[in-house]
Amino acid sequence: MGISVNPLVLHFLCISASVYDVSSLNSEGQTLLSLLRYWDVVPPIPSTWNASHSTPCFWDGVICETDFVVSLNLSDYNFSGQLGHEIGDLKHLRSIRAIASFSLQIGEVGVSSFGLQQAERLNKLTGTIPDCFGNMSKLIMLDLQSNRFHGTIPSSLQKVNTLTFLALSTNQFEGALPSSLCTLENLEDLLLSDNKFTGTIPDFFGNMSKLSVLDLRKNSLRRMITTNFPEGSRLSFLSLSDNQLEGPLPKSLLNCSSFKILNVTSCPTLLPGKLNDLFISLNLINY
Ligand SMILES: *[C@@H]1O[C@H](CO)[C@@H](O)[C@H](O)[C@H]1NC(C)=O
Ligand SMILES: *[C@@H]1O[C@H](CO)[C@@H](O)[C@H](O)[C@H]1NC(C)=O
Ligand SMILES: *[C@@H]1O[C@H](CO)[C@@H](O)[C@H](O)[C@H]1NC(C)=O
Ligand SMILES: *[C@@H]1O[C@H](CO)[C@@H](O)[C@H](O)[C@H]1NC(C)=O
Ligand SMILES: *[C@@H]1O[C@H](CO)[C@@H](O)[C@H](O)[C@H]1NC(C)=O
Ligand SMILES: *[C@@H]1O[C@H](CO)[C@@H](O)[C@H](O)[C@H]1NC(C)=O
Ligand SMILES: *[C@@H]1O[C@H](CO)[C@@H](O)[C@H](O)[C@H]1NC(C)=O
Repeated sequence: MGISVNPLVLHFLCISASVYDVSSLNSEGQTLLSLLRYWDVVPPIPSTWNASHSTPCFWDGVICETDFVVSLNLSDYNFSGQLGHEIGDLKHLRSIRAIASFSLQIGEVGVSSFGLQQAERLNKLTGTIPDCFGNMSKLIMLDLQSNRFHGTIPSSLQKVNTLTFLALSTNQFEGALPSSLCTLENLEDLLLSDNKFTGTIPDFFGNMSKLSVLDLRKNSLRRMITTNFPEGSRLSFLSLSDNQLEGPLPKSLLNCSSFKILNVTSCPTLLPGKLNDLFISLNLINY
C-alpha cells in the first residue's frame, strides 16, 4: 500500500483530536471504535466491540490496566487500511500486535505523547520512516522488518533512546550507517540485514555498551573493520555475511566475553586465511 501523505495533512492529523460521540462508553472505548472506520478487517471485529458498554476492557483483543488500554492484540484478524492517528489518544498503550497482513500507514501515527512501546510486524509499509517516530518516547521495540521502506535511517530515531530492539532488516534502506544510532545507548539488538547500506562498519558500535546482537548481513559494506570493542562489551552475535568486507577482523572482538557467533558466510574477502587464527581456534566462526 503506497499512500503518500501530504505533510500538512499529516500535521493536521497529528494534532486533531478524535470526536466520536458514543453515549456511555468511556473515551478509551470511543477511541477504539473510531479506529474501526479505517480498517477492512477479516473476519469482522467481534460483537464484543459494543458501543453500549461503558468500557472496552472486556472486548476481544483489548488488555487494560486500571481502565486504560495498555495492549492491543489483533493477531486473530487480517487488516488492511491505516492505523489511524486516534491511536495516539490511547496514552497508556505499550504494545500492539498484528499479523503480517496488517497494513498500516504509519505516516499518521504522529502525536507527541504517543506511548506505544512495541510495534511489531507491521508489514506492507512503504515509504520512508516518518519523523513522528522520534516522538514515541516510550518505544522499546521497533520491528519494521520485511517492509518496503527506503531512504536513510532518519536521525529522529536517535531521540528514542528507550529502544532496546531495532529491526529494519529486509527493506531497501541505503546510505551509510548513521552515527545517530550511537545515541541509542540502551540498544541490545540491532538488525539491519538485507538492505543496501554502504560505507564501512562504523567505529561507534564499540561505544554501544549494551549491544549484543548485530546483524549486518546482506548489505554493501566495505573495507576493514576498525571498530574497537572495549573490555566488557556485550556483543555475542555478529553477522557480516554477504558484504565486501576485508580482513583481518579486529582483535578487540576477544574483549566481548559472551561472544558466541560470528557469521562470515559468503564474504569472499574475509577468507579464512585472512582471519585471526584465534577466532578459528575458539570455534566462533560460521563460514
Ligand atoms: C451490546 O450491549 C448491549 C448492552 O449490554 C446489549 O443489549 C446488546 O445486545 C449488545 N449488542 C450486541 C450486538 O452484542
Ligand atoms: C494474541 O492473540 C493470539 C490469538 O488469540 C494468541 O495466540 C497470542 O498468545 C496472544 N498474544 C499475546 C501477547 O497476548
Ligand atoms: C488472513 O489472510 C490470509 C491470506 O489472505 C489467510 O490465509 C488467513 O487465513 C487469514 N487469517 C484470518 C484470521 O482470517
Ligand atoms: C514532536 O514533538 C515536538 C514537541 O512535542 C513537536 O514540536 C513536534 O512537532 C513533534 N513532531 C512530530 C513529527 O510529531
Ligand atoms: C567512543 O567513546 C569514547 C570515550 O567515551 C570517545 O572518545 C569516542 O569519541 C567515541 N567514539 C565514537 C565513534 O563515538
Ligand atoms: C580490550 O579493550 C581494551 C580497552 O578496554 C584495549 O586496551 C585492549 O587492547 C582490548 N583487547 C584487545 C585484545 O584488543
Ligand atoms: C549466516 O549467513 C548466511 C548467509 O547470509 C545465512 O544463510 C545464515 O543463516 C547465517 N547464519 C546465522 C547463524 O546467522
